Amino acid sequence: MKSAIIGGTGCQAMAGKDAQRSTVVTPYGETVVFEKQHGDDTLYFALRHGEGHRVPPHLVNYRAIIAALKQLGVSQAIGIYAVGSITSMVLPGNLGLIDQFIDFTGGQRQSTFFTGGDAGVQHIPMLTPYSKRLRAAIAKEAARLEIPICLKGTYICTNGPRLETPAEIAMFRRWGGDYVGMTAATETTLANEAGIDFAGLVYSINWAAGLDAEGLSFIEDEIMQRIVDRMTLLASGAFSSLDR
Ligand code: HPA
Repeated sequence: MKSAIIGGTGCQAMAGKDAQRSTVVTPYGETVVFEKQHGDDTLYFALRHGEGHRVPPHLVNYRAIIAALKQLGVSQAIGIYAVGSITSMVLPGNLGLIDQFIDFTGGQRQSTFFTGGDAGVQHIPMLTPYSKRLRAAIAKEAARLEIPICLKGTYICTNGPRLETPAEIAMFRRWGGDYVGMTAATETTLANEAGIDFAGLVYSINWAAGLDAEGLSFIEDEIMQRIVDRMTLLASGAFSSLDR
């Protein structure tokens, strides 16, 4: 089976040194992927902010990333997202699985493959944006690896790159948001449109604006790196358990 992990903030070293790097050309632009072979199975890694973390969330070419994975034959993927905590569902330093999102990006991004014309007008359902099968495999793998993880939560996706005002965060909380980030809704929508079985894993790196008496503070880089390493292990372990 062909699987993929899409990483963001803190994920630069995710693929490891022994992965094979290649550039994939798609109708939407080029993207770089890293490939690792596990017997008959292939695991691809993509960095949504690019090598060197140079592309901000509102300028990521989400369509090129998802189209590249589709072209490579990827059938299942896990997105990894840094977030700020709005509720205690996922506390800073902790992990969670997304089960719903609210898209607050404002419609300025290229967030669909469905652009009409010969293909006609298409609407993807969003009742279950995240794969039950993948989420169950991640939960099982987390239990096996003894990694604490929250199994549900609602992700608020802002356009960024600016962070939120405390008033916005108070509103998101009333809406039922548990954490906030700038990428998952767009990526999830495109993965669903492409027919890729998809799950979203979050890790919180701060309390969102207005919730920390000290102002905004982020977990240390070293701690973030440790969490990302565990998430990569968790995601690849979940794929292996399904491939077996
Ligand atoms: N807001 C938006 N995106 C984020 C945050 C935040 O507080 N933390 C990490 N990604």
